[in-house]
Amino acid sequence: MAPDFELPPTMRALVIDETGAPSRLHLAERPLPRQISDEVLVKVVAAGLNPIDAKTRSGKGVAAAIESYPAILGNDFSGVVVRSAFEASPLQPGDAVYGLCRVPRTGGSFAEYVSVSSMSVTRKPARLSHAEAAAVPIAALTAWGMVKLAGAAPGQRMLVHAAAGGVGHFAVQFARALGAHVTATGSTRNLDFLRKLGADEVIDYTTTRFDDVVHDLDSVIDLIGNVHDNTGTRSLTVLRPGGLLVNAPTGSWPTMAADAAAAGRRATGFKVSPDARALDEISKLLDAGVVRVHVDAVFELADGAAAHRLIEEGHTRGKIVLRVS
Ligand SMILES: NC(=O)c1ccc[n+]([C@@H]2O[C@H](COP(=O)([O-])OP(=O)(O)OC[C@H]3O[C@@H](n4cnc5c(N)ncnc54)[C@H](OP(=O)(O)O)[C@@H]3O)[C@@H](O)[C@H]2O)c1
Repeated sequence: MAPDFELPPTMRALVIDETGAPSRLHLAERPLPRQISDEVLVKVVAAGLNPIDAKTRSGKGVAAAIESYPAILGNDFSGVVVRSAFEASPLQPGDAVYGLCRVPRTGGSFAEYVSVSSMSVTRKPARLSHAEAAAVPIAALTAWGMVKLAGAAPGQRMLVHAAAGGVGHFAVQFARALGAHVTATGSTRNLDFLRKLGADEVIDYTTTRFDDVVHDLDSVIDLIGNVHDNTGTRSLTVLRPGGLLVNAPTGSWPTMAADAAAAGRRATGFKVSPDARALDEISKLLDAGVVRVHVDAVFELADGAAAHRLIEEGHTRGKIVLRVS
């Protein structure tokens, strides 16, 4: 029989009372989220940090949609089910799970409990610790969606920008697993890391302009856009006619569609969806050891501000995680 967890009336959470600098983050006691419809109530063990969390905290990202404060940020989590959605639901109390919230439509994962739709949560890969699993959902689902949209397959030649980061390190591994030939960009200190992920070729963006050395590619996974050195616009020039650029920091390059049309190439943004079935496919690859997650640093929840400062530097290798309980 599934264990019956006693629930406290309040939980510890990392909150903001208004948007601003990382120092705005502070611990507070908040009511537990109320479980509705198909939602699963999860006790969070670890929460993954993503650039969107820092962007939102600073007033960008999805901050405009926050309706009330204090607000709990954080999307990725790994933890244990404490209340199932219904009696015969596949996820029962005591099950180790991982998934993603949709801040601010739901409360965030920088808290001891989250209540999330059954479509946003699934069983944790057995091989991974909670800290490792919490590092997976958004980055891996984004990489999975982008690489598939870009048509990764044997014979396809793909360029992955920011390949050492959260999304990028999964994108390199997924593209390789699907048989594509992968060229990856990163700074000098990350070149060996990129080779170990399986990149066929690496480009040090601090010494080499990628558009000087690659051309006629089938696709580009663009995780930079035009925030750095016109990376997005320059990437169009390395595609073959009909090649496709898939961009994730969608707000970073407002002229993308016009630039692509002018260059005679195709380009699209990509936005990640909560997708438990896709996460199950990713879990299989992680459990089989075909794909691995790299956790760069683990912070206590109380040190969330330091974690935000670190991710804002833009040089995370793999992922940053918060230990929640
Ligand atoms: N639309 C969506 O649904 C969606 C979902 C997820 C993420 N995103 C966005 O996608 C972007 C990437 O996300 P992420 O989680 O992967 O970020 P991240 O983990 O913070 O990326 C950090 C990585 O970027 C690399 N980098 C920085 N500048 C670079 C450059 N000019 N060329 C090549 N690499 C560079 C760094 O490598 P070095 O240290 O070697 O410089 C570092 O490894 C973010 O803007 C994020 O908000 C969008």
